[in-house]
Amino acid sequence: MEIQTDITRILRTEDVVELTDLLCRNRSFLSPWDPERDDDFFTVTKQHDIARASLDTYSDGSMVPLVITDAKGTIVGRLNINGIVRGAFQSAAIGYWVSERVNGLGFASAAVAEAIKISTSLGLHRLQAETLIHNKSSQRVLEKNGFTLYGLAPKYLKIAGTWQDHLLFQRINE
Ligand SMILES: CC(C)(COP(=O)(O)OP(=O)(O)OC[C@H]1O[C@@H](n2cnc3c(N)ncnc32)[C@H](O)[C@@H]1OP(=O)(O)O)[C@@H](O)C(=O)NCCC(=O)NCCS
Repeated sequence: MEIQTDITRILRTEDVVELTDLLCRNRSFLSPWDPERDDDFFTVTKQHDIARASLDTYSDGSMVPLVITDAKGTIVGRLNINGIVRGAFQSAAIGYWVSERVNGLGFASAAVAEAIKISTSLGLHRLQAETLIHNKSSQRVLEKNGFTLYGLAPKYLKIAGTWQDHLLFQRINE
């Protein structure tokens, strides 16, 4: 299935150089919100391996790796629809980031809206997302897109080197 929307499209291996450059420029901006990354993560070789693995998982139907682009087609962030589970669950989890330079311009909100449409077209019943308790802008992005808070998971993910509590959000695709 070809997935392409106004501001999201499937990651390509040809994106890796541009994406690695964007990650390097946003390394300190993203570090409070990401797992600890070593220098190797910020190399084209490592990003190529990650992209290849993501595209293999996409082929398996277990994830959808997307880049977020601006009107000129420049990559400004990433959004993954991860961990697609079928059967009685029909659910997946989204994760996303937008470069510091274009934060606050609506890219994340629009990309999450696109992810909802894509997940619906894939027949998924539910999307979930988790945020750090102090990540107010991400919570706002989810709330604007119809996600509701359903819980708090103590020490849920190891972010910036520390197991941190997360708020749990979900949205049912009606
Ligand atoms: C979270 C993130 C994706 C938001 O991206 P963005 O492009 O700025 O998002 P948008 O512009 O679409 O929307 C941000 C919303 O949060 C609001 N916001 C920003 N800071 C806020 C704060 N401190 N308190 C409350 N709301 C806030 C904005 O006003 C906007 O809402 P509005 O449209 O109603 O005005 C981006 O900051 C990011 O990549 N952060 C680092 C990685 C990350 O946290 N990823 C998400 C992990 S759960």
